[in-house]
Amino acid sequence: MARLNDHYLKLKAGYLFPEIGRRVKAFSDANPEAAKNIIRCGIGDVTEPLPAAAREAIKAAVDELGQRDTFRGYGPEQGYDFLRAAIAEGDYRSRGVEVADDEIFVSDGSKCDTGNILDIFGPGNKIAITDPVYPVYVDTNVMIGNTGDADASGAYAGIHYMPCTAENGFVPAIPEEKVDLIYLCYPNNPTGATASREALAAWVEYAGANGAIILYDAAYQAFVQDEGVPRSIYEIPGARGCAIEFRSFSKNGGFTGVRCAFTVVPKELLAETASGEKKPLHPLWARRQSTKFNSVSYPVQRGAEALYSEEGKAQIAALIDHYMGNAKLLRAACAELGLDVYGGENAPYVWVACPRGIDSWGMFDKMLTEANVVITPGAGFGAAGEGFFRISAFNSRENVEEVCRRLKAVV
Ligand code: MLT
Repeated sequence: MARLNDHYLKLKAGYLFPEIGRRVKAFSDANPEAAKNIIRCGIGDVTEPLPAAAREAIKAAVDELGQRDTFRGYGPEQGYDFLRAAIAEGDYRSRGVEVADDEIFVSDGSKCDTGNILDIFGPGNKIAITDPVYPVYVDTNVMIGNTGDADASGAYAGIHYMPCTAENGFVPAIPEEKVDLIYLCYPNNPTGATASREALAAWVEYAGANGAIILYDAAYQAFVQDEGVPRSIYEIPGARGCAIEFRSFSKNGGFTGVRCAFTVVPKELLAETASGEKKPLHPLWARRQSTKFNSVSYPVQRGAEALYSEEGKAQIAALIDHYMGNAKLLRAACAELGLDVYGGENAPYVWVACPRGIDSWGMFDKMLTEANVVITPGAGFGAAGEGFFRISAFNSRENVEEVCRRLKAVV
């Protein structure tokens, strides 16, 4: 009989967001009237229309595909040159950060890339992951066999968990032991925290000294409001030698349904072979993508490119202002209720301590059944998320104002 991948059997219940969806569906089926009022602030999914610049570029590209002389079939697996250049220039070089066009690998999402990147790392790496965390980093390490079983609290043997608490500003301490792959996400999902330049410099120094690699998820960089907060790990000297960065058009350009993202792999980034030889990772990721991926459709890449035009940048800025205005209202409503509130100032997530005597799934149920509002329970992001809940600011202004009213009514 064919053999399955036993590692999948170690995974806990469902992936967080489908699990929330399942509970919301069960409630809705049992309460059809209340279901009509549900406002979803659980998964961080954008609600506002696609920017006009992207829409027009996508439509024009579809028309090109409708003409024999401008039709295109397969594109380059790493992404079209026009988009790689727009990204390297628009997101990096124009901000004084060195990244070459061919260090950009266009993809269909950071969720996929942060999982797929494990293909180019061998077995036996010690993995360091923050707690709470975006669940994809943990689950993909479980799937590939980098962990043992989970204990009763859901923590997997073999992962070095780095607690992120209000006390450490949700930025983990540098490990005392040696780790090889370090997942960092700033602005952070789920806590909305940011990491200072000094904090990131300490991580880069640790990685450089220990031959470790930082897997830096910067999917929320566009939401940074404070000029001093780094948007890219490559703003830190030395990071090109120890970090891979993941970015996405999902949250800034409203591309969660359109699908386009990219990963930066600097050419000087090295890792060791089984025999201890140092080799660059860039050709391995290029090879991985050429074999397993055919990039993103031409119209979508043209749409992403248009986000770097003057109109595109202005339209992104308006979207960010909208969502950050929502975050401000949500923060204020929670603070008015006397709850401890974090995040929401440089990130679209507001991280809130649960009212006394209620745990995070309890708060989820209370908000769903009494307020008909979907939030995300902190425990779903890891043991250290217990006692917190996350509210996503991705919504219409009207819905967010209503969420604030309902919060005040039930808490
Ligand atoms: C979240 O809600 O944490 C994100 O939307 C999930 C994702 O980006 O995949």
